[in-house]
Amino acid sequence: MEAFHPRHILGMDDLSRQDIFKILALAKKFKSSQNTAPLLKGKTIVNLFFEPSTRTRSSFEIAAKRLSATILNITGPQSSTVKGETLIDTAKNIEAMNPDVIIIRHSSSGAPYVLSQTLKTPIINAGDGFHEHPTQALLDIFTIEEVKGKLSGLKVLIVGDIAHSRVARSNITGLKKMGAQVIVCGPPTLIPPAITRLGVEVSYDLKKCVQKADVIMMLRIQEERQDHIQFPSKKEYIQYFGLNSETLKLAKKDVIIMHPGPLNRGIEISSEVADGPYSVILNQVTNGVVVRMALLVWLMGEKRASTH
Ligand code: CP
Repeated sequence: MEAFHPRHILGMDDLSRQDIFKILALAKKFKSSQNTAPLLKGKTIVNLFFEPSTRTRSSFEIAAKRLSATILNITGPQSSTVKGETLIDTAKNIEAMNPDVIIIRHSSSGAPYVLSQTLKTPIINAGDGFHEHPTQALLDIFTIEEVKGKLSGLKVLIVGDIAHSRVARSNITGLKKMGAQVIVCGPPTLIPPAITRLGVEVSYDLKKCVQKADVIMMLRIQEERQDHIQFPSKKEYIQYFGLNSETLKLAKKDVIIMHPGPLNRGIEISSEVADGPYSVILNQVTNGVVVRMALLVWLMGEKRASTH
């Protein structure tokens, strides 16, 4: 008997390898056919964002609209949390209006988990604190598979602020599940020692690991998530961990460069690299729409058993 889908997507551990294959296949179908069938007509989706977003929020909105769902956008400053209402009360009040899914972004790691323990409505994590950003990992995995034609056996190098990156955590879990090898690289102060428990290789030498990578995923330096900058200076960071065209000369000829956005141009990535021929950064953004369409249909559109 086929396993039930999990009700919430809080992190990449809520998806099996088979689930990921199904979502990727559905996303591929949406991309190739430009399918705009009203698969989610009559469904109501709430985007509840307590942190800024350009890509995630708008791609969920476009995805929902392409599938004929109704989508409601609520941002932190426009919600009654500014009047002192708790997150749980806000979410319970939204649930009282019977949405089919609540998508949440929050600065606190675990906020989507707390809602999943309180509400009956399926929750999708659109990024929580330092914890996870599963839909970013799904679109990254889709993009890698689309360009490289496979995932298994690829060496994916993730560079930068691993400690504060929910994108890194979700990608490590997802990519390992799909058979890729993951190397993380950055200053020792931005790589938690326990990261090795996730089965990744750790390096502090960018030039060395660039040479063996099939995919290089650069991460944003997240100054807003650090009490103080945990590396000596931006100048040194750029020198040792910034990706520029000189360092890129050491890479394989068919390497691809990824970044979840937003970019700190001239810090973790030079404009020449971000806008250059190896970059698939805008492909990632394009793929975000079809992957989120696929996830929404997989979660709501298929005949599935409820785990309520
Ligand atoms: N990659 C990502 O999460 O971008 P946004 O913050 O713009 O949603």
